[in-house]
Amino acid sequence: MTESLQSDLLFEAFETQRFRNNAETVLSRLEKHLADLSIRGLELTDPAVLTEAARSLMTSDRDRPTAFDEEQLAAIVDLYIRTGIQVHSPGYMGRQFSGVVPLSGVIDFVSSVVNQPSSFYEAGQLPNVAERIMADEFNRFIGWDPERFAMVTTSGGSLANLTALLAARNRAFPGFWARGNSALGEQVRPAIAVGADVHYSVARAAGVMGVGEDRIVRLPLDDRQRIDAALARPALDAAEEQGLTVFCLVASAGTTAVGAFDPLDRLADVARERGLWFHVDGAHGASLLVSDKLRHKLSGIERADSLTWDAHKMMFVPAPCTLLFYRNREDSRGAFRQTASYVFDERQDIYTAFDSGDKNFECTKRPMIMPLWALWAIYGKGLFAEKIEYLCALTQEAHAILEKENDFETLHHPEANILCFRYRPEGFGDADIHQLQLDIRNRIKSQGNFFISKVDVDGSAALRVVMMNHHINAGHFQMLLDEIRKAGQPQ
Ligand SMILES: Cc1ncc(COP(=O)(O)O)c(C=O)c1O
Repeated sequence: MTESLQSDLLFEAFETQRFRNNAETVLSRLEKHLADLSIRGLELTDPAVLTEAARSLMTSDRDRPTAFDEEQLAAIVDLYIRTGIQVHSPGYMGRQFSGVVPLSGVIDFVSSVVNQPSSFYEAGQLPNVAERIMADEFNRFIGWDPERFAMVTTSGGSLANLTALLAARNRAFPGFWARGNSALGEQVRPAIAVGADVHYSVARAAGVMGVGEDRIVRLPLDDRQRIDAALARPALDAAEEQGLTVFCLVASAGTTAVGAFDPLDRLADVARERGLWFHVDGAHGASLLVSDKLRHKLSGIERADSLTWDAHKMMFVPAPCTLLFYRNREDSRGAFRQTASYVFDERQDIYTAFDSGDKNFECTKRPMIMPLWALWAIYGKGLFAEKIEYLCALTQEAHAILEKENDFETLHHPEANILCFRYRPEGFGDADIHQLQLDIRNRIKSQGNFFISKVDVDGSAALRVVMMNHHINAGHFQMLLDEIRKAGQPQ
């Protein structure tokens, strides 16, 4: 009798009353967590200590279902929250992921329970429809022909960049997918042109694709850390003279380091003249498109062939949630070419026409669009525009504060919500300034009031803040500067 294989404990684990109790336990803790707006940075726990704490919460008999323990669940959730990066605190100024709009977390919770992967319409009907709706909504800001563009969601901006570059390569070298390098002929050496400050995922994609990191043509930057469009042509000429066949030009709309926006219009000219695929990595900054005040930073975006847009950054939804846009629908089918009778149908019908499995790398994919669509459906674009505009204005204000401080050095005029600067008190030579920033960053991290990051600017370390939280105000930034001064004293 197979029934005897099923204990009561198995059924109990799936009981709906238990589900409600579990959810209430978790909810009450999350509510408290979100309500705590005290200034907190990162409290790093020794991994060995945390492993020990986590192990102590594991049931000793793991071979069969065990009686449920609500206290154990509460302890697991407490440990999870307590040891995490405090993205909701005004002390969190360090990275590009953020405290989410709480409702988006609630919708993500629904996704986790109903479990509807979204690469295929039959598995996730509403997610697939919501993807089309959000594609149309966002394309209003991009400006492509609504009948011809396409969008696919991917698990993160890195994967979106790889996917777009694959599509670009397969368009430039049509035999590559089937025959690999041998389709190229002896003399052809595919290459990619990027800004010197491009995100590392683009170079990684080149490595994955077999283009090779040494065939990345790094275009020089101007004094605003953007690709210098005037120098792009000679750099591309030089690459050709060296025997490289550049097939794609990648611009950044919001560089990771300083949030600089490459001049898309002028680079689109360059790409068009040379027949290059023009990819824009807007993982960080594409969200500025939803703001009437800030959209101009991406002027020329309508001339791109593809665009990466991370909603888990400046649209404040749970990670990952990335939208990869293509100007031409045919290009969106170019990255991958597969037959697989268990998922791909020979003939499309009205349902499978909504599938994205042929266009994204993932087979099982989170219905990541749902939190974004639900927020958009309920609040509209105003919520996002207001928050983004506040964060960018706050960053300008922080820059203005720094300009008045003699012991700080500003390094760029912020274009978005990323600001890099150095603490430069008297008595430190250039040689020591680099190490001083690294020491300050680490000391601030260990003090636990603020969390900031660091990045090399022009070859020397700088402190980096990313304003992702509308609870932060200029007063918090002043407090951070005081902490930096203290951390910068000889220890
Ligand atoms: C400009 C840029 N591109 C790509 C990425 C990678 O995105 P993800 O972390 O979603 O893979 C980032 C992440 O910081 C980024 O800033």
